Amino acid sequence: MWTPDSWRELPILQQPEWEDQGQVELAEKELVALPPLVYPAEIRDLSQQLAVAAKGKAFVLQAGDCAESFHDYSVDTVRNKLKVILQMAVVLTYSSGVPVIKLGRIAGQFAKPRSSATENVMGQDLPAFRGHIVHDDAPTLDARRPDPHRLIQAYYQSAATLNLLRALTKGGFSHLSQVHTWNQEFVATSEEGQRYEAVAFEIERALKFMAACGIDLNQEQHLREVNFWTSHEALLLGYDSSLTRYDRASGQYYDLSAHSIWIGERTRAIGHAHLEFGRGIANPVGCKVGPTTTPSEILEICEILNPHRIPGKLTLISRMGAEQVASKLPPLVKAVTDAGHPVVWSCDPMHGNTFVSENGFKTRNLEAVIAEVAGFFRVHRKLGTWPGGIHVELTGEDVTECLGGSRQVSVEDLDTAYNTVCDPRLNARQSLDLAYRVAEMLIQS
Ligand code: PEP
Ligand code: CO
Repeated sequence: MWTPDSWRELPILQQPEWEDQGQVELAEKELVALPPLVYPAEIRDLSQQLAVAAKGKAFVLQAGDCAESFHDYSVDTVRNKLKVILQMAVVLTYSSGVPVIKLGRIAGQFAKPRSSATENVMGQDLPAFRGHIVHDDAPTLDARRPDPHRLIQAYYQSAATLNLLRALTKGGFSHLSQVHTWNQEFVATSEEGQRYEAVAFEIERALKFMAACGIDLNQEQHLREVNFWTSHEALLLGYDSSLTRYDRASGQYYDLSAHSIWIGERTRAIGHAHLEFGRGIANPVGCKVGPTTTPSEILEICEILNPHRIPGKLTLISRMGAEQVASKLPPLVKAVTDAGHPVVWSCDPMHGNTFVSENGFKTRNLEAVIAEVAGFFRVHRKLGTWPGGIHVELTGEDVTECLGGSRQVSVEDLDTAYNTVCDPRLNARQSLDLAYRVAEMLIQS
């Protein structure tokens, strides 16, 4: 029998070594008493949209930080992140011709799984950084001590972030004409400007056409407001289960810490705690699938997370790496399609393309990111399935963490503004480069 706590009986990976379990229980009790961050009715709206994506009639843009930070947090960082996601969404909406579901990795994306339990910083072996919901990132033993009070701090920062997102997406900031103007500025100042101009020009014409037909662009609600959803990796299940509530209206449990959650590549083992938690909540759930995933494993995951085969309930997020996507993805897509599971296929082109540069920075090359998305599109086109979305790590700030882009970031540039607390993120310009390149792929398909 599933309960919000049934995962506690099962093996679990990637958890912090809390020193005082009593303090963790107190923090979780405090979360249980706090108001939810989102509402079941909102989640049901998102589920309906994802069902449309599962049928090939909508596209998902899931994007945001690798790890949100307690330090690098301000109205500007939230607003700039939203701005770049909205800019990408307009380009993708135009080119795909279908609605784009905007799903932030935001307002709860604080916990990180790590490949190794320790990391060596300047000659010192330290517990690996697991996100600000666990401890601080400073390279000292003291800073890396897990502090359960941070579960509460993460909740309040998520609440403040959501409040801001709700204001910005309903209050005019997100107006299509405004977002289009930002895109025109980007195209005008981009080295790839000419390549991108066609799409910008056509959107301009579409807006003029609507205005000419008598639609008041300033008043039209569909142009003034956008739906923006939140998601995070449900890694610290104590946090997520404490914010899981029973909804009397539907008779179901919802994880009300976000609209959607996903289960990571390192914690999706069959019979383990994370799949157990994911199977019982009514939220739409994602699951990362990397190159070691087998067809039988993916079918088991589908059965566990979506036994009733509700379209869009499950999003499979492939993260194969640019070199492996062509060989590793097709058997999985075939198995899922043949079994009749109505999933959304999304592509995370970040986590399979990470490497350490010769000057010691963990980085990714935008060209590899684009190549993986292109490979993902090719696979789906060949198999007649719908490439339903992309899942990317980005920031609205002008950082130098990933290589490439039309305003080239080189290996030597990496130390100029390498600010991430975890994985390298695309900066605002690289994110838009990606959106315009994906737009070209969508227009061709
Ligand atoms: C992530 O999305 O930040 C992540 C850790 O991904 P994965 O589980 O695919 O490695
Ligand atoms: Co990451």
